[in-house]
Amino acid sequence: MDRVVFWASCLAFLPVFRCTFPPPCDSEIYCTGELLRQVQTAKLFDDDKYFVDMKLKATPDEVLAAFQNLTSSSPDNNLKPSELREFLNTFFEEPGKEFEQWTPPDWHDKPLFLSKVSDAELRSWAEKLHHLWKSLGRKIRADVRDHPELYSQIYTPHPVIVPGGRFRELYYWDSYWVINGLLLSEMRETARGMIQNFLYLIDRYGFILNGGRVYYERRSQPPFLTLMVESYYKATQDKDFLRAALPVLEKEYHFWMQNRSVAREVNGTVHVLNHYSVQVGQPRPESYTDDLELAEGLTEGAQESLWAELKAGAESGWDFSSRWFVDSQGGNSGTLKDTRTSQILPVDLNALLCRNEKTLASFYKILGDTAGAERYDRALRERLQAIEAVLWDPQRGVWFDYSLVNNRSHDAFYPSNLAPLWAQCYSQPAMGERALRYLQESGALKYPNGVPTSLTNSGQQWDLPNAWPPLQHMLIEGLWSVSTEEAEEVAFDLAQRWIRTNWLAYLKYEAMFEKYDVNGDGKPGGGGEYEVQLGFGWTNGVALQLLEKFGDRLVSSSTSLTCSLGVGLICIALVWLL
Ligand SMILES: *[C@@H]1O[C@H](CO)[C@@H](O)[C@H](O)[C@H]1NC(C)=O
Ligand SMILES: *[C@@H]1O[C@H](CO)[C@@H](O)[C@H](O)[C@H]1NC(C)=O
Ligand SMILES: *[C@@H]1O[C@H](CO)[C@@H](O)[C@H](O)[C@H]1NC(C)=O
Ligand SMILES: *[C@@H]1O[C@H](CO)[C@@H](O)[C@H](O)[C@H]1NC(C)=O
Repeated sequence: MDRVVFWASCLAFLPVFRCTFPPPCDSEIYCTGELLRQVQTAKLFDDDKYFVDMKLKATPDEVLAAFQNLTSSSPDNNLKPSELREFLNTFFEEPGKEFEQWTPPDWHDKPLFLSKVSDAELRSWAEKLHHLWKSLGRKIRADVRDHPELYSQIYTPHPVIVPGGRFRELYYWDSYWVINGLLLSEMRETARGMIQNFLYLIDRYGFILNGGRVYYERRSQPPFLTLMVESYYKATQDKDFLRAALPVLEKEYHFWMQNRSVAREVNGTVHVLNHYSVQVGQPRPESYTDDLELAEGLTEGAQESLWAELKAGAESGWDFSSRWFVDSQGGNSGTLKDTRTSQILPVDLNALLCRNEKTLASFYKILGDTAGAERYDRALRERLQAIEAVLWDPQRGVWFDYSLVNNRSHDAFYPSNLAPLWAQCYSQPAMGERALRYLQESGALKYPNGVPTSLTNSGQQWDLPNAWPPLQHMLIEGLWSVSTEEAEEVAFDLAQRWIRTNWLAYLKYEAMFEKYDVNGDGKPGGGGEYEVQLGFGWTNGVALQLLEKFGDRLVSSSTSLTCSLGVGLICIALVWLL
C-alpha cells in the first residue's frame, strides 16, 4: 500500500480509531471511515455484511463528497437512520448485482461415481447433490473488471461455485471440498477455473484472500491451493497445468513462511512453525457492530489488538472458537474477548503446511526437477521434527496446539488434534495407533451425528455442539490412512453417521447446511454471529466424497445403521422380529 495515502486517511479518522495497524483495506467506503461507521452502527440491516456488499451508483469520491455535505449540515455530524436509508437509496444498489446467472457448461447428467453408491435412496440423493452445483455457480459481470471502484467484489477471471447463503462470493478453504466434489461430478473445467482464480489472486496480492471482497484483502485462510492442484492433477494428469501453477504455489508457500511463521527454541533446538496472524486494526467491516460492541470499555490499544486477533481467528477458518481463547492462566477457558489466535501454533495449520511441502516435493519430482524436490524434502524433514518436538505429546499420544503465552500445550480436545494423521505427517506408525486411542478415550465419539468441534459449549460456532463437514472429512481420511482394521472401522462408522446426519436433514428441510448439530438427527448447527446458512459448497463436496469412497457400504435407513454399528445379535433378532 501507498504509505502516504494510508497515514493521510489514518489521520483523517484519528478521532475514531488509533492507527498502529492499517485498516482492513484502503476503501473509505467499504473498510474504514465515517460512512461505514454511521451505517453499521445504525443497524439498518440484520447482517452487517449487507451494506459492505452493496454496489455504488456513483464514484467513491462523489459518494464521499455527498456524505460530507450531508453530515456537515447535521447536528454533531450524525445522520438519522431515515437519512442514512435515503442516502443508501440514492447512492447504493442492493447486494448481488455483481453476478450474472451462470450454469456450468461442463455439468452433465449421471457422472460415473453414482454407480458406486449401492443404497438406492442414497444414490438418488447423491444425484440431487450433483444437481446443486448448478444453483451455486456464479459469474462476475465484466463491469466489476471495468469499474472495480464501484464494488467491494474483487474481479476474478473465471466463474466460481460459491458456498451459498450470505457467502455469495468465492471463499478460499471451502473451495478445496467444492473442487473435490466437482471432480467427482466430472466438472473439470469449472474446477480448473476456480484454481486459476486463486493463482490470479496470488499474482495480484502475493497470497490468497479469505474471500473475494476488498474487506478480506489483508487476511488469508487455511492454505489449501496446493492440494486443490493435486486433486486436479490426479483427475487429469495435466503436467502443463502443473508446470504453470508450480511457481505460483511456491509464491504462496513463501508468503506463509515469511509472513505467518514463528521460530521457537524447544529443548535447545530452534523450530519454525506457523500461525495465523493479521496485523490489521479496526472492526471487521462485514461484522462491524459485533466487533465494536465486543471491544466496548477496553483501552484503545487493547481494542486494536483484539480486532487484530479476531481477524486472525477469521483467517484460521475457525471463527470463532474456544480454541483461540487464552485465559489469565494461559489455558483456553474464557470468552470471545480473550481471543488471541496469533499466540497459538495450531496443529492443523502445521499439518497442512507439512502436506503442502510433501506435495510440492512430489510436483517437482513429477516434473523431473530434483533440486526443487530436494528443497521441499528438506523443508518437510524440518517440519516433521518441529511438529514432533513442539506439538506431539508423548504422554497423551496426540498432537496439541502450542501456546506462545506460556510455552505450553493447550490440551483440550479438537478434531484438529488429529490433523497430522490426515496429512500423514508423523514418523512412527505407532503414533497413528496412539492417536486413535486418544480419540476413543476423548469422549468425542459418543455423539450420534458427528464429531463435535470441541467439548466446550461456548456459544461460538466452532465449538460444541456443532460439527463441520471439513473437520469430519479430514478426521475420516486420517483414520482411514492409519490402515489398521480398527482405525478403518472407526473411520467408516464416522462416515456412516455423517452421511445419515446430512441425509436426515435433507429429508426434513430439502437443504444442505454449512454445519450440523452433533445431537438431533439432522438438526442444523447454530451459535456465533449469523444464522445457519444453506447451500452449501463444502457440505455437498464432503458428502459426495464419502458417498464415493464408502458407497458400497453406506446405508440410508436407521435399522440397518444400528446393525452396521455392531449391535450384532440383538440387531439381527430385532430385524427378524419386525
Ligand atoms: C452539497 O450541498 C449543496 C447545498 O445543499 C448542493 O448545492 C451541492 O450540490 C452538494 N454537493 C454535493 C457534492 O452533493
Ligand atoms: C510479508 O512480509 C514482508 C516483510 O515483512 C512484507 O514486505 C510483505 O509486504 C508481506 N507480504 C504480504 C503479502 O503481506
Ligand atoms: C529434551 O531432550 C532430551 C534429550 O534428547 C530428552 O531426553 C527430553 O525428553 C527432552 N525434553 C523435552 C521436554 O522434550
Ligand atoms: C517462552 O519462550 C520464549 C522464547 O523461548 C521466552 O522468551 C519466554 O520468556 C517464555 N515465556 C514463558 C512464560 O515462559
